Amino acid sequence: MFKPETYSHRRNALRNELKGGIILFPGNTEAAFNYPANTYHFRQDSTFSYFFGINQPDLAGIMDLDNGNDILFGNDADMDDIIWMGPQPSIADRGRLAGIVHTKPLSGFEQYIKEALAGGRPVHFLPPYRGETKILLSAMLGIPVNELKAAASADLIRGIVMLRCIKSEEEVKEIEKMVDVAYLMHTTAMKMAHPGIVEQEIAGTVEGIALAKAGPVSFPVILSMDGQTLHNHYHGNTLTEGRMLVVDTGCESVETLYASDITRTVPVGGKFSRRQKEIYEIVLRANTEAIKAIKPGIPYRQIHLLAASVITEGLKELGLMKGDVEEAVKQGAHAMFFPHGLGHMLGMDVHDLENVGENFVGYDEETVRSEQFGTAFLRLGRKLQPGFVLTVEPGIYFIPALIDLWKAEGRCADFINFDKAETYKDFGGIRIEDDVLVTETGCRVLGTPIPKTVAEIEAMMAR
Ligand code: GLY
Repeated sequence: MFKPETYSHRRNALRNELKGGIILFPGNTEAAFNYPANTYHFRQDSTFSYFFGINQPDLAGIMDLDNGNDILFGNDADMDDIIWMGPQPSIADRGRLAGIVHTKPLSGFEQYIKEALAGGRPVHFLPPYRGETKILLSAMLGIPVNELKAAASADLIRGIVMLRCIKSEEEVKEIEKMVDVAYLMHTTAMKMAHPGIVEQEIAGTVEGIALAKAGPVSFPVILSMDGQTLHNHYHGNTLTEGRMLVVDTGCESVETLYASDITRTVPVGGKFSRRQKEIYEIVLRANTEAIKAIKPGIPYRQIHLLAASVITEGLKELGLMKGDVEEAVKQGAHAMFFPHGLGHMLGMDVHDLENVGENFVGYDEETVRSEQFGTAFLRLGRKLQPGFVLTVEPGIYFIPALIDLWKAEGRCADFINFDKAETYKDFGGIRIEDDVLVTETGCRVLGTPIPKTVAEIEAMMAR
């Protein structure tokens, strides 16, 4: 945990954003894996953790905006708990760690809500994402489960997004520690990526490093020599010469939950072929040009479109695309090769705050989400501000089914050389991703630099 003042300061900042009523912070409960007593690794709710810090199940918080009290609800350990889990701090002691002076048994949470509702006071809550929390809130608030999302407080969402999107120095330090663990995860994967090894061996090793050095992976490891599938969780292939291995992985702090999210793509065996190098250099240029252009005030969608232009220009040089680059990007032709967004906010969630709704986080009244295939999938489009931490992750993919579809439809035929694209259907995909902090004047790539150029990767993989 951070110091108690960090959590008090965050709650006070939120208090200033809302007018009255109470704010609910249901913490997460244990989630059953295959029977109730055998649970998944416990993961606290990020918002609860941001304002209350305590990484334990069965807690809840309330901020009472009318009397200024912040209350932590939870039960002290009984003898059964002590027998199975050892001595536990009291709820009062836990509360003090988060700067809380008012603590009550967990049953008081429901009672407090009932009294607030009876008094006609506004009750603010975020859209719940876990079944257990949905059921709990539905029962306490008398709102059907499928109406909770619509009933969630837009004012609360906006207030929390505003606070959590701007990272303090201590938050950036936590993220940077996780990027440094990702360095070890990625360089280990690079050294292992030789013909004959099964993807699962690398995926398991990488996940083990996360657990040994930091905490769980921040999302299921994406690791595949079929990198044309953007989020490939299948790890059953045996690596073969001529393929490229996409590794998209990061970890999160077991204590504070801050995450990293890095992608590297390497040639199986450690040496890029000419064709692999040609495509790789385009993606690398898109990554580095985008990073160079990041600064406060610039909409991230503009950076996304810059990366799309670099990709289009490069593919045109190789004869895979054709025509006017600006017009091709305007019409979304690049998206057959780059069918996702350039990046997203990163913080306590790998897609930070995605639980409240992506448009609240990545868009605003000034920047509305595009409806065009490709650019529509950009999670962050709005103007950048100092303190944002985001990912920069361009890619080029040869997705046979997508090539077939666009070719059959004649889609963007003025800008795509489909005959040439046919010859790349066995290529796979490449993505290169870094985690970046927006500073007052530009940006800073976080963490120890992870091999990224052709020369750096070949040197790291040399045997
Ligand atoms: N790196 C995984 C994701 O952004 O979803």
